[in-house]
Amino acid sequence: MEGIILYSVLYIIIICNAFVHASVCDIKYEFKENEEVKIADCKNKGLTFVPHDLPGDIKVLDMSCNLLRMIWNNSFINYKYLQELFLRQNQLDYLSNNSFQGLHKLSILDMSENLLNLSNIYSIEIFYPIKRLNEIGYQEKYASTNRFVTDYNYPDHAFGILTKLSFLGIDMMPLPHFGSGFGQMTTLKELHFESCYLVHLSNKTFERFSPSLEQLTLRHCRLHFVVTEYNALLPFPNLRVIDFSGTFMHLKHALQLLHPYRNANISTINFGHMSDVSIDRADIPYVLTITVDIMKSLKTICVENLDLSENGIVDYEPGSLFSFDHPKCLRHISFKGNRFLLFSEKNLNEIQYFFRKTVRLKSFDYSYNAVNYGIKYSGTSNLDFNCSFYSCVILPKSLEKLDVSYTIAYTFPAIYSLVPKNNSLTYLDVSYSNINAPMIDFQIRLETFISNGGDYSFAWNQLKRSPYHTLKKIVWKNADLDTAIRLYGNQFFNSIRSIESMDISENDIWFFPDDLLNPMPNLTYLYLSKNSFQSIPIQLRDHTKVQMLDVRKNRLTSVSSAIRDWADKMQDLHGMTLHLTDNAFECNCDNIDFIRWIQTTKVDLDSRSYIM
Ligand SMILES: *[C@@H]1O[C@H](CO)[C@@H](O)[C@H](O)[C@H]1NC(C)=O
Ligand SMILES: *[C@@H]1O[C@H](CO)[C@@H](O)[C@H](O)[C@H]1NC(C)=O
Ligand SMILES: *[C@@H]1O[C@H](CO)[C@@H](O)[C@H](O)[C@H]1NC(C)=O
Ligand SMILES: *[C@@H]1O[C@H](CO)[C@@H](O)[C@H](O)[C@H]1NC(C)=O
Ligand SMILES: *[C@@H]1O[C@H](CO)[C@@H](O)[C@H](O)[C@H]1NC(C)=O
Ligand SMILES: *[C@@H]1O[C@H](CO)[C@@H](O)[C@H](O)[C@H]1NC(C)=O
Ligand SMILES: *[C@@H]1O[C@H](CO)[C@@H](O)[C@H](O)[C@H]1NC(C)=O
Ligand SMILES: *[C@@H]1O[C@H](CO)[C@@H](O)[C@H](O)[C@H]1NC(C)=O
Repeated sequence: MEGIILYSVLYIIIICNAFVHASVCDIKYEFKENEEVKIADCKNKGLTFVPHDLPGDIKVLDMSCNLLRMIWNNSFINYKYLQELFLRQNQLDYLSNNSFQGLHKLSILDMSENLLNLSNIYSIEIFYPIKRLNEIGYQEKYASTNRFVTDYNYPDHAFGILTKLSFLGIDMMPLPHFGSGFGQMTTLKELHFESCYLVHLSNKTFERFSPSLEQLTLRHCRLHFVVTEYNALLPFPNLRVIDFSGTFMHLKHALQLLHPYRNANISTINFGHMSDVSIDRADIPYVLTITVDIMKSLKTICVENLDLSENGIVDYEPGSLFSFDHPKCLRHISFKGNRFLLFSEKNLNEIQYFFRKTVRLKSFDYSYNAVNYGIKYSGTSNLDFNCSFYSCVILPKSLEKLDVSYTIAYTFPAIYSLVPKNNSLTYLDVSYSNINAPMIDFQIRLETFISNGGDYSFAWNQLKRSPYHTLKKIVWKNADLDTAIRLYGNQFFNSIRSIESMDISENDIWFFPDDLLNPMPNLTYLYLSKNSFQSIPIQLRDHTKVQMLDVRKNRLTSVSSAIRDWADKMQDLHGMTLHLTDNAFECNCDNIDFIRWIQTTKVDLDSRSYIM
């Protein structure tokens, strides 16, 4: 299939080359900092060469997603005002020594996702599987490409001309050598490596680069285990953003690289998914207990956004993971997808202190953790709790977003987490979680509440107790709501009057009591897919704000004329989207009007030909 597509693409290009010379690119104008900027947009045009006949005063040339293989001498000589050049996603494998001649004003160059010299070594086909690696993870069979690993000298004389560059995006070779030409980019601020085949990040790798660098991205290098040397980041004393997410160098080694930033201010450290079962070794096992030593640099850093998700963390020593010298700096933390217990008796004081000190913390993501700590049971089960008697942790007042979805965690005795008075919590996700750290709140003003899976009663009780009608969005899938609706009837949604978006799909609901939706006058988006409705609830006629109704995968046999009229009315008022696929529509005489309506209505339907 790919072969056919490739062939047709090539065929079209050949035709295009024969007949089209200029005007393949769109010339546009944009205002940037009060200045009109002329842009040549040549994205995705099947080009194999750099056009020579564009206006000489363009400042931005976007040639992403074309078929360039080489950049010859003086390709850009006509465009001496160029400030931004995008060559991302081509098939570049050759740069000549004078490729960028004339580009003295260039500040952004993005050449990532190309092949540079690699096609000499690998065949292009080898890279197709790698492209998909992001999704499927590392696979052992690609490890055999190790034998192709070779040194690569980036053509630094070509790059050295770009002395004004502030942004450089480029591929990362297995054993890269960046020559002195790179040192001439003395104002370089951002360096991004996207297609990455790195094997070894040495003390010398970055030594020629200017210390001006502020952002370094080195993501998804997972073709090989990446060996690191202790001083690899020493050339960059001014980094503010370090994003190594998805690069398999092991979290422990990554944290060691941070030593040049002790006591520095860093806005983002993204070390998500740097350890992986595929690189499990005796000296750096996947299963990791965070020690004081591992944290010794990180704890001193004033970091705002910290991501240590998916790193096989199973535990932490006292004085490690939650002992920051500058807890006030922390704004967003993600510990998603590890396996450690957040609250435990041995670390209780520490975590209490941590949450007391993180006064600017806005989001905390502890989703996808699964821990079962069989610590001996010693408490009482009296639910009438008293914080100086029972163990509890008070969450920071500043916290806006808490995600504990897909988490299973037990402590004995239970440790209560308290949401303080006058809190900022507006987003809570407790989907599929089973945590015996009951959350006690006094004045919760949630706007988004996600509670998929399990039993409706936890969410329902929370909502009933909250006197504030602030909730705008609820996602409540797969939560046995058919039972709840049967039990409580029209009362069930009484405590969520302010709702605008409600997703109650996957609940086996086949029936709504007549006034069920009455308490919700502002309902705008309603998702009812994967239930068992035989007809769309007629009570929707009383709702005038609905803009979206999703009833896919039910057992609808038709859509009544009342609902059709209502949908048309909604369309006239404010636009209306209706999703109807995968139902049991009947093709009979009774449905002729419905079928005709499908063809003529202005309502935005997900299809115009439903299977009947
Ligand atoms: C590029 O220019 C250099 C120096 O002017 C010259 O030596 C080289 O042959 C040229 N390469 C090509 C492919 O034209
Ligand atoms: C590029 O320039 C360097 C130094 O001037 C030279 O050693 C090298 O051979 C040149 N490469 C090509 C392809 O012209
Ligand atoms: C490309 O790689 C080959 C093999 O490693 C090397 O001999 C050649 O000099 C490289 N070409 C360029 C332009 O760097
Ligand atoms: C890298 O630097 C560290 C610290 O100076 C040193 O211990 C290590 O041996 C160096 N690695 C190599 C391969 O030179
Ligand atoms: C970090 O930022 C704070 C507040 O902006 C500032 O006072 C401090 O000097 C900075 N520290 C460093 C090492 O730059
Ligand atoms: C809470 O427990 C402490 C310690 O047992 C006790 O001194 C205190 O009176 C209790 N407070 C309340 C309100 O019951
Ligand atoms: C609630 O917190 C805000 C900001 O933290 C503060 O300005 C306000 O005075 C507090 N209100 C009460 C009643 O404590
Ligand atoms: C519905 O929205 C209006 C306008 O935003 C608001 O004034 C009203 O309080 C809302 N109704 C409910 C029940 O929240």
